[in-house]
Amino acid sequence: MSINSWPALDGMAYGGDYNPEQWSREVWDEDVALMREAGVNLVSVGIFSWAMLEPKEGLYDFSWMDELLDLLHANGIAVDLGTPSVSPPAWFFHAYPESRVITKDGTVMGFGSRGMASHASTEYREAIARMATELARHYADHPAVVMWHVHNEYGVPVGEDFGPRSVANWRLWLQGRYSTLEALNEAWGTAFWGQRYGDWEHVVAPAATPTIANPAMKLDWARFTDDQLRECFRIERDAIRQHSDKPVTTNFMAHQSWNTDLWKWAQEVDVVSDDHYLWAPDPDGHVGLALSADLTRSVGGNDPWILMEHSSSAVNWQGRNVAKRPGEERRNALTHVGRGADGILFFQWRASRSGAEKFHSAMLPHAGKDSRVFREVVQLGQHLKDIAEVRGSRVVADVAVLYDWESLWAHDLEWRPSDDMQFRERMRAYYERLWRDDVTVDFAHPEADLSGYRLVVAPSSYLLTAAAGENLCAYVAGGGTLLVGAFSGIVDEHDAVHAGGFGAPLKDALGLTVEEFLPLREGETCDVVFDGAAMTADAWAEDIALAGAEVRGTFAGGPGDALPAITRHQHGQGAGWYVGARLTHETLAPVFAQVYADAGIVPAGGPEGLETITRHGADHDFVIAVNHREDAVSLSITGTELLSGAQIDGTLDLKGGDAAVVRIARAQQGGGA
Ligand code: GLA
Repeated sequence: MSINSWPALDGMAYGGDYNPEQWSREVWDEDVALMREAGVNLVSVGIFSWAMLEPKEGLYDFSWMDELLDLLHANGIAVDLGTPSVSPPAWFFHAYPESRVITKDGTVMGFGSRGMASHASTEYREAIARMATELARHYADHPAVVMWHVHNEYGVPVGEDFGPRSVANWRLWLQGRYSTLEALNEAWGTAFWGQRYGDWEHVVAPAATPTIANPAMKLDWARFTDDQLRECFRIERDAIRQHSDKPVTTNFMAHQSWNTDLWKWAQEVDVVSDDHYLWAPDPDGHVGLALSADLTRSVGGNDPWILMEHSSSAVNWQGRNVAKRPGEERRNALTHVGRGADGILFFQWRASRSGAEKFHSAMLPHAGKDSRVFREVVQLGQHLKDIAEVRGSRVVADVAVLYDWESLWAHDLEWRPSDDMQFRERMRAYYERLWRDDVTVDFAHPEADLSGYRLVVAPSSYLLTAAAGENLCAYVAGGGTLLVGAFSGIVDEHDAVHAGGFGAPLKDALGLTVEEFLPLREGETCDVVFDGAAMTADAWAEDIALAGAEVRGTFAGGPGDALPAITRHQHGQGAGWYVGARLTHETLAPVFAQVYADAGIVPAGGPEGLETITRHGADHDFVIAVNHREDAVSLSITGTELLSGAQIDGTLDLKGGDAAVVRIARAQQGGGA
């Protein structure tokens, strides 16, 4: 069967999660009328509907959903049909109590919330296969259904399970990975602390332990958990495949995902989709949003993707749920579009009156249609119609940022040299520098083909396999520019320190290894002198053993006083830069300026906070410009501004907080993978 790779829709997808089982039938009619007013053409239904679709085991009731799908279809609204496996009903847990998730400390997770049953439960796996089969059989040919939405946000609120069946699967998984106990003992370094295993039955899960558990074991546990979740996804996807050729997705969480290695997950879905919510404590949450969008596009091989969920205003699950201010949601949505999204959906269509998420914003808020939020929702729907021709166009980047979930898992284990060196924090600092310079990036796996990029940035590659090290050294030798952040190239895939000194896999590319880490105390700072100017750094210093690299910056004060902090190394046709300090996006600026020059990258040079991204279409290019500043800015550009229809001859003036989409003449495409 040939599978469709995009839902059959005209133009951009627009809509949200629709949970009408909360409402009486009359409300459904009002909903579809207002959806039409807002330009909604796609809604996700059924994600939490298991209890309504199978009220008793084996008794399926699709009548209400039949009526709903018919109503939506009659109103021109397509359906992304969910499978409800994320929230098994009360009867399921009553009948199969051993299917409940057991946490690390032995707590059995009860019913009354939401969240997946144990991924290892045979009864759960059988039940989700049956449900997916019944749904697919019933709705495969329904004209409203254009896509399947399996499960919801794999890995949250729970991904790991420490119950006996999961541990039994874990042993089988380890046998598959290592074949022999000798190989497992070797990989995990069990000679230390007397952990040697003499029998597979003795191998346990890294549950509660007196002090930290073996880190190699925990890293494998993360891989195992990810694999098990993906197995559950495949069960449902393959059941659907028996009956339908419509595309299957599941909603990722990009930079916010912990349990899922999205490089692997993206291989399993037909359409990549992602959920993103602003993190209220971060006043520059739009930078994290851009990171998340670029990461989502990248895991999907730069194909267009769908923003499956975001919020029209505040969420309700953070400590202080900051509402979006007028125009903010529009900027957020257009940034997602700029970074490759061909669909913009929300959680959820109508605000709930009851239950856990009643204070979460919605497309149709509690205030009703006569509200700022709904007016902006209607405006956005119009915008997406106005820019329909952007659909299918591509983002092309000259810069790749290395991102590896395995390195994240390993890095964030306990007992590292400094708690201050965190994967996500480092990723954000380097990304933010690029964002503020308005340089568009892809993300890439460290073992990927990087030859199409002028610059590769590795903010935090603690775990780097020997193969990845060779890949990066070959990339530099071939003429690439590589910029590596501190605490990179430290361990292999078993969290074992590489032989030859810290950073040994990158020695050829960087012309150095690191002899000793010199972390700073909490609150302590030192200076890094670069290009004659002193910049403040914190958290980290180190004693670099030079092996050919040229010193470009030096620590001043602190434990690394007078030692090299920033280096450049010519290797073959290219250059390897290294930053052995913790710099912020501000203090990274002068370093990046020189790295760009090496790589032949010329940043757009606009005012900081003006975000521009180009999507390349078959006949035209499209520049998405988002002004995050409070003051007005000007952009040199000629073309048609699609949101207003205005012709721009040379200069586009964008008010503070405004955004624009300009169709321009087709430019020559740059490099990029
Ligand atoms: C997640 C879930 C949704 C909803 C939103 C609220 O993304 O998938 O069901 O709970 O969070 O922000």
